[in-house]
Order: sequence, then C-alpha cells, then structure tokens
Amino acid sequence: MATVRIPEQNRTLTEKAEIRAFLAPFGIEYDRWAVAGRIDRDATSEEILRAYDPEIQELNRRGGYITADVIDVTPDVPGLQAMLDRFNKEHTHAEDEVRFIVKGRGLFFIHPDTHPVFSVEVEEGDLMNVPAGTKHWFDLCRDRTIRAIRLFREKAGWSPVYTGDPIAAGHEPLCFGPGYFNPNQPRLAPGPALV
Ligand SMILES: [Fe+2]
Repeated sequence: MATVRIPEQNRTLTEKAEIRAFLAPFGIEYDRWAVAGRIDRDATSEEILRAYDPEIQELNRRGGYITADVIDVTPDVPGLQAMLDRFNKEHTHAEDEVRFIVKGRGLFFIHPDTHPVFSVEVEEGDLMNVPAGTKHWFDLCRDRTIRAIRLFREKAGWSPVYTGDPIAAGHEPLCFGPGYFNPNQPRLAPGPALV
C-alpha cells in the first residue's frame, strides 16, 4: 500500500480509501493490482505486460494511452544517478506519468498550486498517475530498486519540463513505508540522501 505524507500538516495516510479520496481532487488516480500469486516479479517484461493486459487495456481506453513498457531500475544500472538527477528536480510533463509498481519502491513528491507539497511512496502493487502539467519530482528509496509498467500516449511527451523551482532540495527523499526499514533500525533514522 502506498504511504502519503503531507509534512506541512504532519499528516500520514496509509489506507487505500483515504489515499484515493485525498488524491482525487488533484486528478491523481490510485489503485491496487495484485502482484503476489499473479506474476513473478522477475518475469520478463513481455510476460508482465501480458499478465496485466486487461488492466492496461482498460487504462488505455480511459486515458488514451497507446504504448506500455516495463522499466527496471537497480543500483547497478549504469548511469543511475544521472537518470535520477533528471527526475529529482521539480518538473512537469506534457502527458500523464502512469506507473504500476511490480517490484521495489519509489517516492513521488507532488506540488499542487493550491495545497502544500505532499509525497506518495509507492510500492509493489500500487498504480498511480501524475496528470499532465502537475508539478512534481521523483526519487528512489534507499534500495534504489523499482520495476514498473509505464503507459504513454507518446513517449516524447514524457520528457521533463523543469520549473526551475529549487523546492525539491528542501525535501529529503526518505521512505518510511511498512516493511521498508530494517526492524533493527530506528524507524525515523534518516538514510543517506540520494542526491
Ligand atoms: Fe516526472
């Protein structure tokens, strides 16, 4: 399950219904698709896309997406930091950023015009979209691992358009989702910054 945090309000949301209700006014859809028992997290990209084809087709129908792929990020991906640095500064896209997380975790920060910044920590089984034009940035958690289905209308539309606002530097990319931290580690102990 995702974890939504609104630091300025000292609020944390961890229930699906409250997360959906909170995100909806920002045009962000959140849902859960089963992973365990349905697909091997390390299956090929083709097998993953085939397994979720019914859901993908439904999203395509509603959102006008026409292509899907699977992105794999692990700590040993060449140029990982350079890739992260493209997306960990506030930006927008000309089209929706749609992600279904098959494995690992990631951290979206959303910066609405009319609401304080909040983060959405996504993990296995989470589906969310960042609507076109929404100011946001993204980072990985300390394990620097994520595998996700991505949907596109046109891949070129997904290039980041930077706002130039340095706001991301003021938000530590820390993940706190259930099960993420080693139980021997204090829950609030900050990990090393990713940037
Ligand atoms: Fe983005």
